[in-house]
Amino acid sequence: MVAVAILAAGKGTRMKSSLPKVLHALGGRSLIEQVLYNCRLLPGSRRLAVVGYQSDRVKAALSSFPDLEFVEQTEQLGTGHAVQQLLPHLDGFTGDLLILNGDVPLLRPETLQQLLETHSAHQNAATILTARLPDPQGYGRVFCDDRHLVQKIIEHRDCTPEQRENCRINAGVYCFRWPELAKVLPQLQANNDQQEYYLTDVFEQLEPVMAIDVEDSEEILGINDRVQLASAYQILQQRVKEAAMLSGVTLIDPASITIDDTVELEADVIIEPQTHLRGHTVIGSGSRIGPGSLIQNSRIGKNVTVMYSAVNNSTVADETSIGPYAHLRDRATVGSACRIGNFVELKNTQMGDRTNVAHLSYLGDATLGTKVNIGAGTITANYDGVNKHPTSIGDRSKTGANSVLVAPITIGADVNIAAGSAITENVPDDCLAIGRARQVLKPGWRLKSDEPNTSSS
Ligand code: UD1
Ligand code: CA
Repeated sequence: MVAVAILAAGKGTRMKSSLPKVLHALGGRSLIEQVLYNCRLLPGSRRLAVVGYQSDRVKAALSSFPDLEFVEQTEQLGTGHAVQQLLPHLDGFTGDLLILNGDVPLLRPETLQQLLETHSAHQNAATILTARLPDPQGYGRVFCDDRHLVQKIIEHRDCTPEQRENCRINAGVYCFRWPELAKVLPQLQANNDQQEYYLTDVFEQLEPVMAIDVEDSEEILGINDRVQLASAYQILQQRVKEAAMLSGVTLIDPASITIDDTVELEADVIIEPQTHLRGHTVIGSGSRIGPGSLIQNSRIGKNVTVMYSAVNNSTVADETSIGPYAHLRDRATVGSACRIGNFVELKNTQMGDRTNVAHLSYLGDATLGTKVNIGAGTITANYDGVNKHPTSIGDRSKTGANSVLVAPITIGADVNIAAGSAITENVPDDCLAIGRARQVLKPGWRLKSDEPNTSSS
């Protein structure tokens, strides 16, 4: 039996932020979501998060993890004090407890698996992850004997200058036999520079405690400030991009592209420069995205092109082309083989297959059938100043250039709307609708001032 506890009660003073540190974003996930995600290969069992600073906000941000148990640490008196709060919750638990810092987001799931395996293979009281860093500044230093058995851990600020020379650092990732940890936890003292209860003090009382070095020390980067947050983002980007390229995605100029690790890309997708893919986005094979595009929380089908455009919270079916300079603002559902051209904005709009909106249009709260052609400059007037109203346009209908469709309105199938019309009443199937003042011609008419000057002065 393995339980996982994540320490996430701290404020994160060094972030200088009103947002709790563990809610800062690292690509598509917050730091703590990323830590939870890194546990995905571990045997399914209890997950606990110790929360404290702005705990309501942290809990609300984690509402998509229904099985996560929250443990309150009302005063943040140190990592040892945080773990003490688990005592009543894990009463009677006899398995292993994996403890992770909520601000160490780059651990590979395989590394955690390996930690657990070593822990049980050696029947250790505790097994901890360590790394040798060229610049160990700020981390706790781990002192071991020659068999990698941990003697003690001393925080950077409590080290003597000689002890600081030790570059073997504590990653903040530990596996404990819970009953043994539970026995020593109540004895922690806060006799250190910060006057906090340090979890790391328990190791002097447990035996055997084994340290295992991570191969790739980038994994254990702890985020204490925004400089480290940016470094972690770069490392994660590097991993995501390499994985994408190795799975058959072409990235043209990878350094100018950002891809959240929540994004799924099929083989033979091409991502052009200056393109950013965020959130829960999926892109089908053969699609070409960019240059200069932002796709967020959207599903893009196969063989789609998106150029210099923004697509948010929308779905685009196969073979459609978008842009340049289009904006699928929110909840657009675009059929297959459609064309969304320059300076077109779609909001809460459904478009059937083979429908085109090629130039200068706003379609909001609209439902369009198949093979509709929206003329240049067509606008749905969906907002009366108080409420939004729907527009419906049937199959094969065409709107002339510069039409205004005043919602709520229903335009039937096979309708033609004359250019420059303001359409305020429903149009039945198979009709031509003209809603504009008739052109008037006055032969020979001219302005008074343009008349020949007949005055004699
Ligand atoms: C800690 C370790 C240090 C290690 C480093 C690795 C201790 C004493 N030190 O230091 O040896 O090298 O992590 O990154 O453990 N937290 C609580 N409640 C508290 C205090 C902290 O939940 O009262 C949480 C924080 O939200 C954070 C984590 O514990 O997620 C680590 O706390 P932090 O203050 O960042 O510890 P470090 O100084 O980085
Ligand atoms: Ca830290």
